[in-house]
Formats: sequence, structure tokens, C-alpha cells
Amino acid sequence: MKPYLFAAISAGFLATSAASAADGPAILESKCASCHALTQPENSALDHVWERKGPDLYYAGDKFNKPWLVEWLQDPIRIRPAGEFYFKHVKKGDKVDVVDESTLTEHPKLAKADAEAAADALMALTGPEELIEKGKFEDKKASPMAKMLFTKLRGCYACHSTGDGKGGLSGPELHTGGERLQPDFIYSYIKDPQKIDKSVWMPKLNISEQDLQNLTSYIVQLSGKKEAK
Ligand code: HEC
Ligand code: HEC
Repeated sequence: MKPYLFAAISAGFLATSAASAADGPAILESKCASCHALTQPENSALDHVWERKGPDLYYAGDKFNKPWLVEWLQDPIRIRPAGEFYFKHVKKGDKVDVVDESTLTEHPKLAKADAEAAADALMALTGPEELIEKGKFEDKKASPMAKMLFTKLRGCYACHSTGDGKGGLSGPELHTGGERLQPDFIYSYIKDPQKIDKSVWMPKLNISEQDLQNLTSYIVQLSGKKEAK
């Protein structure tokens, strides 16, 4: 039996047999901390980005939408086409780098009660006050220019895919971005990626306020589940 399946089944037993509610913080410590930073790492320089086994979660409460977390933790579908860390999971192809699937592993799964408890505990983790700019996103309908900005003018498409089977492999897919991520996080990340993740290779571009709004709206609306005003 695959280890993650075994983990899922035993977590299921625990969830049904335990009379008390699942303990979210304890789950995070015992099952997640080996791969994810749950507190801000002291060393956020390049070697942290290189060595970490999963994305930092110490600001999860500023990043994710809780309903998405609860679903995803039960059925984790790949977000980063080349996992964490991109450069360790690609090999040379004919023209461009291709993902070496054999080096990628399945994400551990949680049973429903544990997923809910873990999601609650994750939503309670917030980073430093200034990490995310709150309330700047205006939540308007993306203009027709937004797609052009994303795919051509600002080069986002070179690293991110939008669910059409095209787009880049070195950044997280963004067609579930609207379901997954809080709009204020999306806005802040596009504005200044290194403020959130010091050594990440997404470039800090000088993007106008209008284009920032547009790109954020575009990503929020991509999942088709959120209607902007
Ligand atoms: C063996 C290492 C490992 C363990 C253990 C692990 N994860 Fe992960 N986690 C990863 C990797 C790698 C990714 C990136 C997956 C992707 O992008 O497709 C990830 C992604 C995530 C994400 C999405 C993060 C983002 O920024 O997109 C969440 C949330 C998450 N894990 C929560 C958990 C929780 C909760 C646990 C404990 C129950 C856990 N993980 C245990 C390696 C791990
Ligand atoms: C050189 C590659 C590259 C380019 C170009 C790039 N990004 Fe990124 N982007 C990344 C990486 C790498 C991450 C973070 C990876 C991680 O968390 O593991 C990221 C993260 C993001 C996130 C947060 C997503 C998440 O799931 O955490 C958003 C939103 C985003 N990028 C939007 C954009 C937009 C909009 C553009 C164009 C203006 C762009 N990116 C250009 C590589 C890139």
C-alpha cells in the first residue's frame, strides 16, 4: 500500500474513533512541519528556497480561501507543475525543459475532520502585519486588456499556466487562483513577490496600479467561480 493511502486510511480511523474533535495545531506539527515552515524562517535567503520541501505556510491565513483548503487537503491536486522546487524536477527536453514526473511525489491526504481542523489551524497563521496590502484591490471586472497583459505584455504566461494546457511550468498554475487565493494576496504578490518570499524567482515588475487591478481581477475571475462586481 502506498504510504499516503495508508496515512489517509489511518487518519480516517482516528477521525471516526476519536470522541474529541481533531486537533488542528497538533496535526500541523506532527504531519506537516517536516516540509512546511509554520513560523517565519529566520533564514529566508536563497538556500531556504532551495532546501525547502514545501511552500511556506506561516502566512497561510493571509493567503488561502478556507473552503479551498478543506477540499484540497482531502484531495491534493498538483498546483506547481514541477513541484517544489522547480529546478530539481526538470530535465532537458528537445527545445525546452520538461518536468521529470518520476521525481514528483503525491501530497499526503487528510480525512475530512482532520482537513477541517488543519484548515482552521492554517487560517490562524498570519505573517507580519506589513506582508500583505489589505483593501487595495477594487474587485472590478477584468478589462479585455487583462488577458493580453498576462499572456503577452508582462510575460506572466512564461511561468504560469491558466488551464489551457499551455503556459509556463516554473510557477503555480493560476486557473484555480481565484478559488485558492485571497485577492489581497494575489494583488500583493504581483506587486512585490520578494516582499512575500525573499528569494523567489518571479520578477518584481514595475506595474501600474491600473494593470495591477486588472491582473488581479483576471486571476480572480479565471476559476470562473467568482463573479467580480
Ligand atoms: C513530504 C513533504 C510534505 C508534507 C509532509 C506535507 N506537504 Fe504540503 N506541500 C508539499 C509540497 C511539495 C507542496 C507543493 C505542491 C504543489 O504545488 O502541487 C505542498 C503544498 C501544500 C499546500 C499548498 C501551498 C501553496 O502555497 O500552494 C498546502 C496548503 C499544504 N501543502 C498543506 C499541508 C498540510 C496541512 C500538511 C500536513 C497534513 C502537509 N501539507 C504536509 C509537501 C508536503
Ligand atoms: C520567471 C517566472 C515568473 C514570471 C515571469 C511570473 N511569475 Fe508569478 N510566480 C512565479 C513563482 C516561482 C511563484 C511562487 C512559487 C511558489 O510559491 O512556489 C509565483 C507566484 C505568483 C503568484 C502567487 C500564486 C500562488 O499560488 O502562491 C501570483 C498571483 C503570480 N505569481 C502572478 C504573476 C503575474 C500576474 C505575473 C506577470 C505580471 C507573474 N506572476 C510572472 C514565477 C513567475
